[in-house]
Amino acid sequence: MTLNWTKDDIQDQSGKVVIVTGANRGIGFETAQILAEKNATVILAVRDLHKGRIAKEKIISNFPNAKVDVMYLDLNDLATVNNFVDEFKGKYHSLSILINNAGIMSPKQQLTKNGFESQFGVNYLGHFALTGLLLDLLIKTSNSRVISVGSLIAHKTKVEFGHFKGTKKYNMAKFYAQSKLACMYFAKQLQSYFTDNRLNVLSIACHPGIAKTNIFNRQSSRAKRAITNLGVKLIGQETQGSALPILFAATDETLTGGEYIGPSNRRKGDPKKLDILDQLYKKHVAQNLWDVSEMFCGVKYPLKVKI
Ligand SMILES: NC(=O)c1ccc[n+]([C@@H]2O[C@H](COP(=O)([O-])OP(=O)(O)OC[C@H]3O[C@@H](n4cnc5c(N)ncnc54)[C@H](OP(=O)(O)O)[C@@H]3O)[C@@H](O)[C@H]2O)c1
Repeated sequence: MTLNWTKDDIQDQSGKVVIVTGANRGIGFETAQILAEKNATVILAVRDLHKGRIAKEKIISNFPNAKVDVMYLDLNDLATVNNFVDEFKGKYHSLSILINNAGIMSPKQQLTKNGFESQFGVNYLGHFALTGLLLDLLIKTSNSRVISVGSLIAHKTKVEFGHFKGTKKYNMAKFYAQSKLACMYFAKQLQSYFTDNRLNVLSIACHPGIAKTNIFNRQSSRAKRAITNLGVKLIGQETQGSALPILFAATDETLTGGEYIGPSNRRKGDPKKLDILDQLYKKHVAQNLWDVSEMFCGVKYPLKVKI
């Protein structure tokens, strides 16, 4: 497939500090590598420092002048999110782009360290806390952005309140979809927050289509894993293509915030603005989700931001 928008369309990112969560492999690695190639300072926020250092070495061997840092972040444990932010603020004084990419598609019912269903906790709550704790830096940095990674699968689900621990009837796929929809609702709600407070920060959601990555390898049953991987092999794309909607959301200067970016042909293709999130978005549900997330994470987004 010939693309009209590629990494060559990304302007120079010199001077920008970028965090990519889950950047040691998959779509996050690809995104981080391309932003490093474009001269941004890229922080690989990873739960395994060894894997993070290998990823850094790979980027440096491809782009010797790349500015890459590796920092520990485990979204499964909100205490480490706090530690990450403290360490980051000790080292950096600006944050141009926060890419909330890390994710799991968990095989069986598990709880995070803080007692939430693991996909909801890692994919959504951890990023909600991370963004809230980095808010002051994002606000201080001119033209900054927060990018939230959703999924095609979330287009057919809804957020169910009172069922965030997965202790009732557990359906792995449903919880994955719900966690991704929560990320997409958060992106819209965050843009309203920035707009209401007249802040020069953009929040943009995106989805990568379907990519041949490790995320599908966690299913407990070998048979299910084999079927899923065969399907992904047939219809999925390489990570370079699936990183494009994230990169477009992170760098395109015509975006104004609140958009949802995805591949033009559902699973692959040029990044383009999609209407579906505006159809799915329910403001009161997003606000309720925001309120419970503040409570769950112990992270408060101030109602009125003083600049
Ligand atoms: N692949 C697809 O077709 C597809 C489709 C729709 C949406 N997405 C979304 O795209 C994003 C990237 O997925 P991918 O396909 O690139 O998956 P992947 O190859 O499995 O990469 C996921 C990344 O997230 C990291 N991660 C997992 N749990 C973490 C935690 N507790 N704390 C910090 N980092 C953690 C992983 O680290 P480890 O290496 O240590 O496990 C890895 O770096 C996810 O948000 C996913 O939901 C993917």
